Order: sequence, then C-alpha cells, then structure tokens
Amino acid sequence: MASEAPFLIATRSEGKLRELNGILATAGLRAVNLSQAMIEPTAAEEHIETFDTFEENALAKARYFHALTGMPTLADDSGLCVDSLGGEPGVWSRRFSGRDDLSGQDLDDANNAKLMAELADKTDLRAEYKCAAAFVGDGVEFVEMGEVRGEIVRSPRGENGFGYDPYFLSSELGMTFGEATTEAKELISHRGRAIRALIEKHF
Ligand code: IMP
Repeated sequence: MASEAPFLIATRSEGKLRELNGILATAGLRAVNLSQAMIEPTAAEEHIETFDTFEENALAKARYFHALTGMPTLADDSGLCVDSLGGEPGVWSRRFSGRDDLSGQDLDDANNAKLMAELADKTDLRAEYKCAAAFVGDGVEFVEMGEVRGEIVRSPRGENGFGYDPYFLSSELGMTFGEATTEAKELISHRGRAIRALIEKHF
C-alpha cells in the first residue's frame, strides 16, 4: 500500500521523534509530528497506553490520533525487557521509577537509578529492547515488532540516545546505544527494525 499523505508521528518523546524522523526519511516517507500538526497535549493522552502488550499499546496510540485528526498515523510503543527481572520493566519502561512528577532527562535518570537498584544483586544482565510499530489509516491497521539484544552495564557510557541507552550494551555494535550515533543505532535498533518491517511489508 502506498501513502501520498504525510504520516502523523504520534509521539511527544523528543528522543523517539529524532529516531523516527531519521528512519522515515531514509525510507523516503514524509512525516509531521504532533506539534507540527498543532495537536496540543491533553490529559486523555496519558490514559491511552493501558494494555499489557507493546502491540496493543502502539495500536491504541495510533487509533487515538488517527480518530482525532483523520491523518494516516504511525505510533510506537517500546521498552526494555531484562531477562533476570522476568522481562521487566517492559511496557512499564517509561513509568518504571513511579515518578509521575518528572519528565525528560530527570525521568530517564530516575528510571536508570531504579534499574541499577533492581539489578544490584543480579549476575545475569542480559536484556533486550522491544518495539511495536503501528500504522492506522482509513480502514487499515498494521502492527510489526522489532527487537535488539544486549546486556545492561553498571556504569553509563556515552551521551547519545535517550532513556536507558547509556546502560544498554548492544551485542551487535559492541558499544552502548549511548555511545552509538543515531545512524548506527537506527540500523539495528528495535525501533528501526519494527518501522522497516512495517514499511517493507505494507507500503
Ligand atoms: P513509551 O513511550 O510508552 O513507548 O515508553 C518508551 C520507554 O521505553 C522510554 O521512555 C524509555 O524509557 C524506554 N525506551 C524505549 N525505547 C528506547 C530506546 O530506544 N532507548 C532508550 N530507552 C528506550
């Protein structure tokens, strides 16, 4: 399926937006974000992602903004799943620290501190990032997954990326996502893989 209209990228995360813009540009697709589409944040948005799976949350987000705007909408739901924590924080990655009062780097710092505390007595530090990318247009819905494996390091490395990236050592890159350039991360990341799967299978 080809789409002439620009996609709406349904995220308010600066870090995700940077990466999604790059991935879509590489694929030759036009996109606008929520602030470019002049969609102001509302309290209702905070209650979209109430499901237990990445797929359901990504679809819920894409459905919500497609219903609001009528635009073909792309959303991702993603998170870090740590083997020795039974897959946690998973879909709760953004809210892991429980600090609803924080945002941006302060929230990332609180989440990373919680991760370090949870892993203090663990020896198995293997983990993966997972991403569900969902597209909702008129009468069509698609969702695809992407994953990337690695391990958690106990001291942060690098200042690129966002969220847990300085603590996520990619097996494929041999460096943390905090050390990798956006371009290097995009090639192998959960988000890059999920979006490319969506594009290759459906567009
Ligand atoms: P979402 O906005 O509900 O999808 O939550 C995503 C959360 O998972 C982010 O706030 C980060 O904590 C974490 N996360 C997902 N993808 C990444 C990534 O590529 N790098 C670092 N953290 C990520």
